Amino acid sequence: MTTTFRSRITARIGRTYLSRIQKYGIGSSTVRLLPDDLLMMMRRDGLDPVDKLARTRAKRPVHKVSLPFGMDAWVVSGYEESKAVLGSADGFSTDFAHLATNAGVAAEQSPGGLGFNDPPVHTRLRRILTPEFTMRRLRRLTPRIDAIVEERLDAMAAARGPVDLVQEFALPIPSLTICELLGVPYEDRDDFQQLAMDRFDLFAGTTAPFGAMSESLAYFRDVVKAQRAKPGDGLLGMIVREHGDSVDDEELAGLADGVLTGGFETTASTIALGSLVLLQNADVLDRIRDDDAMTAPFVEEVLRYLSAVQIAFPRFARHDIEIGGVVIPQGDMVLCSLSGANRDAGYVTDDGRFDLDRIPSAGHLAFGHGIHRCVGAELARMELRTAYPALARRFPGMRLAVPPQDLAFRKLSIVYGIESLPVHLR
Ligand code: HEM
Repeated sequence: MTTTFRSRITARIGRTYLSRIQKYGIGSSTVRLLPDDLLMMMRRDGLDPVDKLARTRAKRPVHKVSLPFGMDAWVVSGYEESKAVLGSADGFSTDFAHLATNAGVAAEQSPGGLGFNDPPVHTRLRRILTPEFTMRRLRRLTPRIDAIVEERLDAMAAARGPVDLVQEFALPIPSLTICELLGVPYEDRDDFQQLAMDRFDLFAGTTAPFGAMSESLAYFRDVVKAQRAKPGDGLLGMIVREHGDSVDDEELAGLADGVLTGGFETTASTIALGSLVLLQNADVLDRIRDDDAMTAPFVEEVLRYLSAVQIAFPRFARHDIEIGGVVIPQGDMVLCSLSGANRDAGYVTDDGRFDLDRIPSAGHLAFGHGIHRCVGAELARMELRTAYPALARRFPGMRLAVPPQDLAFRKLSIVYGIESLPVHLR
């Protein structure tokens, strides 16, 4: 299929979806209108996906859902079926930015970055970013991640009374790591942390993150300008030095914003929810504390079990395409439930249980699969592999400071999370 033809199709799909979204709005009232079959992907019962998702997956791993604006979408909750969708760049587009532009939405509203671009733009941008995420380059961050984690543990140890692990541990680790990665100037750190938090304050209303997104892009435009003039040692400085001519300032700001969007809330939620797994399983905490060899299996099982990113980027069928024996018509939107896929009984046995000794036959889908697979997966692993054992070693006797039923989890969000995690450290 030629690029022009693809563009025409994605543009048409985009215009249809976006004109309807514009007409009906994407406020909380629209969320309420969304069918339960769609919302079930974002609902949980504590750390577990709701039973309805498991029942649906068992009967119809590829399941059609009618949207309120008269359109169809597909919920894919099976492991193999999700892998097939995510792995088919020819079959599915994620080009939302392109769609937005074609639908006449202001360019500033386009998320940019990697997730909402198709090849060849995606391929070019990803090639620019990938070298910065190789283990060799990431290794330079190891001492900084160690120091960030130790600083947080020291600050927590000095506090009196219960400590909130979300505020004091889970949020600062990825936000400061991303500062280091990008090469954000030291004096900007407080502002940057605030920006990162505002960006994900979904409880402030559905339009708040859009305001924060423009602010974030504006902030990165300034950082990019400064890095062009005087490239630093971080990711942005490296890109300016090595690919300065092949990427413009807008694209670079979009990439930086994409790294913040992709790497902050996802990792923070996983650190917080994984800490809760430790709090709920004293035997697991002991093994993580005492045996370095358990760290990597713990992190992989946490990623699978929690699947904090509950849904992959929306895909749009480029042409009629068969997935799991079902034909998805051209133009329909497809949502892959990663939390559903990672608990598919066809993929893991005893799927509802956290099992440190589990050896799955294939990789989990917590980082996605295919051309959009998480570019920051190794960085996330580095953070998680540092944070959990350090926490378990420093505070082996930590325990919840509130009854488990008082823990407030996110009710409806693509990235699952917990509002606060108050603990007694000793
Ligand atoms: C536990 C932490 C994380 C989880 C669970 C996670 C999960 C994901 C998932 C599910 C996708 C989408 C895959 C798809 O739709 O096919 C993704 C994409 C992405 N992630 Fe992550 N992520 C994490 C951490 C990070 C970090 C630390 C960074 C960067 C600092 C990052 C940057 C990105 C980017 C830029 C993309 C878009 C890639 C593309 O479209 O080519 N993520 N991530």
